[in-house]
Amino acid sequence: MRKLTYFIACSIDGFIGDPEGDASAMISLVDEELLEFLRAEYPETVPTHGRRALGMDDLPNKRFDTIVQGRASYDLALKEGITSPYAHLREYVASRTLGESPDPNVEIIADDLVGRVRALKAEDSAYDVYLCGGAGLAGELVDEIDELVIKTYPIVQGSGMPMFASGFAITEFTLESVRALGNGVLVRTYSRKH
Ligand SMILES: NC(=O)c1ccc[n+]([C@@H]2O[C@H](COP(=O)([O-])OP(=O)(O)OC[C@H]3O[C@@H](n4cnc5c(N)ncnc54)[C@H](OP(=O)(O)O)[C@@H]3O)[C@@H](O)[C@H]2O)c1
Repeated sequence: MRKLTYFIACSIDGFIGDPEGDASAMISLVDEELLEFLRAEYPETVPTHGRRALGMDDLPNKRFDTIVQGRASYDLALKEGITSPYAHLREYVASRTLGESPDPNVEIIADDLVGRVRALKAEDSAYDVYLCGGAGLAGELVDEIDELVIKTYPIVQGSGMPMFASGFAITEFTLESVRALGNGVLVRTYSRKH
């Protein structure tokens, strides 16, 4: 069984964006060391257009071959006219409203989200599945998440979009690694306690 990994950027107080979900306060703090970390360990988490701009086009995928996004997160790309924001991965977008996919590389999941994600996890592959977010989708899939990779940026927001839009329930995770970067970003990896 391969893992579903929620790979996400958040503030010290656990928000993944402003109250509308906008994560640009964090994106503005990305520096060369963080890019080097992504290049070395998670190049596939950089959207295709960003990879091109950063000269990362040729890098092979390291951890993931599949991405699952919520429709609101995918909308950010669509608004820029980009229909396949992660063209180097198999792309799945959860949506009950989108209907037909606007791109041959993007498959829409309209029904049985949990069943579809379980089927992706059951596929025979050396690569894991990247859960991109946002809060709504992560909240629906919290029981399926095997690993968290949390990039915590050194900012406090006070309010914003939570990491999970879900009801109250305790799920235990084990800390696997911590990496502190010079700009104050902390990358913590947790695995789910089974
Ligand atoms: N900080 C970070 O690293 C990071 C990463 C990713 C995203 N974000 C932020 O997160 C924000 C978006 O988060 P969000 O919570 O508003 O939305 P979201 O999770 O991206 O998308 C929610 C949508 O997904 C679809 N969906 C959810 N559950 C479903 C199910 N069971 N079956 C079928 N479709 C389902 C629905 O689409 P329909 O309404 O079409 O049915 C729902 O409206 C963005 O603003 C983005 O900036 C931040």
